[in-house]
Amino acid sequence: MTGVAVQLKGLRRTFGAVHALDNLDLSIEPGEFIALLGPSGCGKTTALRVLAGLEDADSGQVLVGGKDVTALPANRRDMGMVFQAYSLFPHLTALANVSFGLSLRGRGKSLARAKDMLELVGIGAFADRYPHQLSGGQQQRVALARALAIEPSVLLLDEPLSALDAKVRVQLRDEIRRIQTEVGTTTLFVTHDQEEALAVADRVGVMRAGKLEQLAAPADIYLTPATPFVAEFVGLSNRLPGTVVGNKVEVLGTRLPLLSPASSVSVTALVRPESVSVSPDESGEGRVLTTSFLGPISKITVTVGDLLVVAQVATDRLATLAPGTPVRVTLAPNPVALA
Ligand SMILES: Nc1ncnc2c1ncn2[C@@H]1O[C@H](COP(=O)(O)OP(=O)(O)OP(=O)(O)O)[C@@H](O)[C@H]1O
Ligand SMILES: [Mg+2]
Repeated sequence: MTGVAVQLKGLRRTFGAVHALDNLDLSIEPGEFIALLGPSGCGKTTALRVLAGLEDADSGQVLVGGKDVTALPANRRDMGMVFQAYSLFPHLTALANVSFGLSLRGRGKSLARAKDMLELVGIGAFADRYPHQLSGGQQQRVALARALAIEPSVLLLDEPLSALDAKVRVQLRDEIRRIQTEVGTTTLFVTHDQEEALAVADRVGVMRAGKLEQLAAPADIYLTPATPFVAEFVGLSNRLPGTVVGNKVEVLGTRLPLLSPASSVSVTALVRPESVSVSPDESGEGRVLTTSFLGPISKITVTVGDLLVVAQVATDRLATLAPGTPVRVTLAPNPVALA
C-alpha cells in the first residue's frame, strides 16, 4: 500500500452564520502524516468530514491522487476512519468487527486479513472478545484495525485518543505512527492536543476559524510560528512588555531577535518558559513565587516588579530556588513573536 496525494482547495462550508470552513487549502503529500490542530470549533471535524464525503462543501474541491472526488459519495472515496467515540458493533467480536467491511473478498480471505490487522495493532490475542470485554485503548486498536483492513488510500482519524487516559494515549499515538509508517497510508489526524500533534506528525496544520494559519514541520511550528495566534496556541508563552529597537525587541534588559517586523515601539513579546533562566542572586530583581515539580523539568514562577514570569528549570536545581529566593532573570536570545 502506498499513499496518495490529497488536496483540499478553497473549501467553504457554512452552517447558518458560522463559517466552519472559510476557504481552506491543504495539500498533503503521498504517505504523509498530517496533524490538524486548532481550538474547539475551528472546523477540524468539518474538514475531515468533507474530505471523507460525509459532508458537502458549499464550494471548493477535494482531490485524491490528483482526481477530483468532490462529487463522489463517501463509500466510493476509499478512506478509513476512526472517531473519538468507540464505534464498534457491540454484538460482534473484535475479529468480526474488523472483517465486517471485507465480506466482498470471501469469508476465508476476510478472516485472514482481519487477523493480520489485529496482529498489526497488537491485539491478535483478543480476536474473540466482544467490545465490552476490551479496554478503551483496545477498542480503539480494533477500530484502527478495521479502518486499515480495507487498505484505504487515506486514513482519517478524528481525535481517536481523546477518551483514553494519558498513558494509554501516548502509547497508542506512538503505535499509530509506527503502523502508519509501516503501511504508508496518507493520514490526516485531527486533535486539539498540541503535544500529540507535535509528537507524531510529519507536518502540523494549525487551524483557526475555518482556515489554516500555518502548515509546517513540528519544530518550525514551535520555534518559528508564522502568526501570533500560532505562537500563543502552540506551547506556553510569557507575555512580557518590550520596546522595539531596530530589528530587535528589548525585554527585561535583553535584546531579542524578532520573528517578524514590529509595527509599533511598545509591544508585547511572547517568550517561551524554556528561554528564561533563573539563578539565585542576592542583588537580583526577581523573587521566586512558586515552584511546581513536573518530573525531570519543573516550572517556576518569578515576580520581577509587577511582572510574573514563568520559567523552566531542571528539577535538581529546585533546592536552591525555594519561594522567596532573590534571583536574577535572564532571557536566551531566541527569536520571539509579538502578540
Ligand atoms: N451540522 C452542523 N450544524 C450546525 N453547525 C455545525 C455543524 N457542524 C459543525 N458546526 C459548526 O461549525 C463549526 C466547526 O465545527 P467542527 O465540528 O468542524 O469543529 P472542530 O474544530 O472539530 O471542534 P472540536 O475540537 O470541538 O471537535 C462550529 O462552530 C460548529 O458549531
Ligand atoms: Mg471535532
